[in-house]
Amino acid sequence: MTRPVTVPAGVSGAGEPRPHPAWLPPQAWRPLGVRRVVVHGDGLLVDTVFAEVAQACAAHGGRVDRTGTDGASAVDPVDLVLALRDPGPLPSAVPAAVTAGPTPDGPLGDEGFLLTRVDDVTVVLADAPAGLLYGLFHLVRLGEAAHTGDHPARAHRPALRRRMLDHWDNVAVHPVMGQVERGYAGGSIFWRDGGPRGDRDRLRAYARLLAACGVNAISVNNVNVGLTEARLLTDRLDDVVDLADLLRPYGIRVHLSVTFAAPVVLGGLPTADPLDDGVRDWWESTTRRVYARIPDFGGYVVKADSEGQPGPFSYGRDHADGANLLAAALAPHGAVVHWRAFVYDHRQDWRDRTTDRARAAYDHFAPLDGRFADNVVLQVKFGPVDFQPREPVSPVIAAMPATRVAVELQVTQEYTGQQWHACYLAPWWHEVLAFRPWGPAERSVTDVLADVPGPGPHRGGDLVAVANVGDDPFWCGHPLAQANLYAFGRLAWDPGLAADAILDEWIDLTFPASTVGDPALVRETLHAVLDDSWRTYERYTAPLGVGFMVNPAGHYGPGVDGYEYSRWGTYHFADRDGVGVDRTCATGTGFAGQYPPPWSQVYESLERCPDELLLFFHHVPYSHVLHSGVTVIQHIYDTHFAGVAEVVAMRDRWTRLAGVIDQAVYDRVVERFDEQLRCATEWRDQVNTYFFRKSGVPDARGRRIH
Ligand code: GCU
Repeated sequence: MTRPVTVPAGVSGAGEPRPHPAWLPPQAWRPLGVRRVVVHGDGLLVDTVFAEVAQACAAHGGRVDRTGTDGASAVDPVDLVLALRDPGPLPSAVPAAVTAGPTPDGPLGDEGFLLTRVDDVTVVLADAPAGLLYGLFHLVRLGEAAHTGDHPARAHRPALRRRMLDHWDNVAVHPVMGQVERGYAGGSIFWRDGGPRGDRDRLRAYARLLAACGVNAISVNNVNVGLTEARLLTDRLDDVVDLADLLRPYGIRVHLSVTFAAPVVLGGLPTADPLDDGVRDWWESTTRRVYARIPDFGGYVVKADSEGQPGPFSYGRDHADGANLLAAALAPHGAVVHWRAFVYDHRQDWRDRTTDRARAAYDHFAPLDGRFADNVVLQVKFGPVDFQPREPVSPVIAAMPATRVAVELQVTQEYTGQQWHACYLAPWWHEVLAFRPWGPAERSVTDVLADVPGPGPHRGGDLVAVANVGDDPFWCGHPLAQANLYAFGRLAWDPGLAADAILDEWIDLTFPASTVGDPALVRETLHAVLDDSWRTYERYTAPLGVGFMVNPAGHYGPGVDGYEYSRWGTYHFADRDGVGVDRTCATGTGFAGQYPPPWSQVYESLERCPDELLLFFHHVPYSHVLHSGVTVIQHIYDTHFAGVAEVVAMRDRWTRLAGVIDQAVYDRVVERFDEQLRCATEWRDQVNTYFFRKSGVPDARGRRIH
């Protein structure tokens, strides 16, 4: 959707616009920048730490020095020490109590750090440079609190080893999908019109922002790989080398989406059969050439046999054969292939009631458990269909105990308002990660990803998300959508964090108290607007987990029957008597049976199925009474009226910030709320009218339905 947008004064001008600082504005560095700091250690990422501290001190009046090999420095006394524990002695400024004390809870690992404060000295210790970098950004998050009082020593480590963003960015503009597939923030930050964009400042700023929230891997091109993009692997590799060089100082490894047909389209081989020796050799030698240029290259992302992309099925092979082929090429380099599980029949006949798209990933992949190489990460969308605002958690996550699994989220708001609607997704992701597939006493999705031991084999995995960033001055189109990007990184680092606590962090960083008129009002307003915004979005869109009902042309705004008679396998089956998809084992597609107990029984049962997923699992009459006590039809009316009323309230709340925060941010959000309200009203009226006309049941409260 193209609409005129406000451009903030001061962030545009000649050449490339200077983007909004997001969660790293200069004022967020002040508490650190006024201190006397010592940095100790060697390596590229320690250089980054030193440069960041030096920049903050130059801006705010502090001092920084780097220790010599003897641990001495010119800064004395010292307020803050950031030190690698090895090699050599720790700086003399580190209080003896810290040096003598044992590390709490074992080693710090590649990315962990220890934070403590004794005798008026704040100390961050790490065993590897990346740990020091994450420790630095943790200090920024803590602000003044990092430099007051005593802090007992505490170790911080990421729960998940890979915290990754997939950019669906095209190098060449795609005739339908544009420069960024499902991108709602302008052009790509990496590519423009067939080549690299070359905006190094923006890429560096992006890398900083990602490191500051914990992201450590990016795939830089779309999972739908066109001919131009395919060549990033071979004769366009220079462009990837450049990106890797820019992102490396912030601890971010570059990954590439590759086409399974690469041996044919790039290598000129007659086949891409995964069991063919020539194909195997081609992948091995091509991958070796990548590593000769990018020694820390992260690996490949593959969308195979999915929505028209080539894959092993063409050769009569299965997805373990396909994934293991690429894994073998990557294994000598210590890298992984993210193999997507988004495989389903996208040419389904809508008349065929036996095929259920929700079943597809499990049906394809569960039988292959145990056959994937150790460096295959099966990348599973969090729900069984496609990033809807409400879906059950994918049953594949519990079905593959002998396979590494990555859960894929969608930060880009394809189905959640396309960054025109304020929709804070952290509460939803938190629910997904906290879901316990085997029941309340057993492991959660987070535990599976974090490799927490449980019964049977287990291998751990990653958290991955589709990015929401573009060349928009506010990065994300909607300035408040920055909170989603931030929250993704933080949840990937610590999936136990509460959504409102993450929002507090984001508010403190993005709107430092010293830069806004009324910090308490800013905090209160942002919570009022964002905390429940995902549920608000759910209320005015498709009801009770039935999903889709979006306009097929772009997935923005309502289209209740938009997909009903299409080939895409996303139906709601509404008729004059009822609505919903029967996915029970007793009378439906059997999808409910893909879950282990107790969920297979809970979802199978009309009585026990949670209201919010009722229409995902059951076809019910409009008169069916929900646990909430109202009928399905009345619930549809009530939630749609409520959802729009909530958007009105959100918009009104926002206007209290006029003159309190940066005008450009304020204006851009006002513009977005106007559009959100228009669109939400359209959703309400189309959905309510549709169901009123189908069912003939009037609204019990007599409100206007068209
Ligand atoms: C969705 C999205 C596509 C994307 C696909 C995927 O279907 O609409 O644009 O390619 O997901 O995840 O591969």
